[in-house]
Amino acid sequence: MSSHGRVLFRWICLQVIFASVLSEDWEANVVPEIKALTTSCVVLPCTFKYPGAQLPDSRLRAIWHTKEKQDQIIYHEDRTRVIDNFKDRTTLLGRLSEKNCTLEIDKVRNHDNGPFCFRAEIPQKDQYSFLKSCVTVKPTDEPENLQLDKKEFLEEGEPVSFRCSVKHTCPSHPPTITWSYPNSNPTVNHRDISNGNWEAESLLTLIPKEKDAHTFLTCTIKFHGGQTRTITTRLYVKRKENYLHIIIPVAAALGTALLFGVMCFFMSKKYKSQIQELQSGNGFLGRMSRMSQRFRSVD
Ligand SMILES: *[C@@H]1O[C@H](CO)[C@@H](O)[C@H](O)[C@H]1NC(C)=O
Repeated sequence: MSSHGRVLFRWICLQVIFASVLSEDWEANVVPEIKALTTSCVVLPCTFKYPGAQLPDSRLRAIWHTKEKQDQIIYHEDRTRVIDNFKDRTTLLGRLSEKNCTLEIDKVRNHDNGPFCFRAEIPQKDQYSFLKSCVTVKPTDEPENLQLDKKEFLEEGEPVSFRCSVKHTCPSHPPTITWSYPNSNPTVNHRDISNGNWEAESLLTLIPKEKDAHTFLTCTIKFHGGQTRTITTRLYVKRKENYLHIIIPVAAALGTALLFGVMCFFMSKKYKSQIQELQSGNGFLGRMSRMSQRFRSVD
């Protein structure tokens, strides 16, 4: 290869590398279908790619519209362009410079079905509606997967944990979970369980007392927007096995018996020595009998 040829070859290689880095095509990644609790919010996860170099927020514009009609805009930074039905209900949560087009729809209504599609605009240059990656929203009045675990029996004084959880699609304002148990200090977790679904959970640790037996433990879940649900379980507390009511009388009886035995022992010892004294003649009776002998001898 001549030196000319080598330079040309390198130049072609560089072109290929640049092209593969820069010529990313328009592409959006969304969750195609997502459930939404009415009156609460729903967050539509979205990321996108565009050709050319990465641009700052100021050079990009995000629009969400219905698939049916591109001029039915549900999100636009200029709120006057948004159709009445969605005015002040949509917020772009993602940062465009990070290629994130995540959208929040608040105060979900029964007819917010979509499908909704993202459009990226590079003003004065280019724009693209991602009509192949639209999102269908399924509004529902009933939250999913409300759970509170049941426990057969609790042991008095033994710490036990209860878990209350719910699935939701409003991670920007997750539900709050509270417990009926007094002075509880639960641990709260929010977990991404993929495809736009999240799980909120609260873990309560309590130490059952005798007075908790047969009471109800209630977990209250309050969703953003005001919907509230409760789940209740009953506490069955097993009394701690307690032998004091047996131990005390038995100990008292044994103590009395022992005391009585010791007394008998000393008493019998004392009587024995007195009897021995009598027999050996040192006692009062012995002296008497000796005296009577003396009187008799005087006679
Ligand atoms: C996009 O933005 C949302 C909202 O800020 C965020 O929760 C999510 O993690 C971002 N996605 C990616 C892939 O960075």
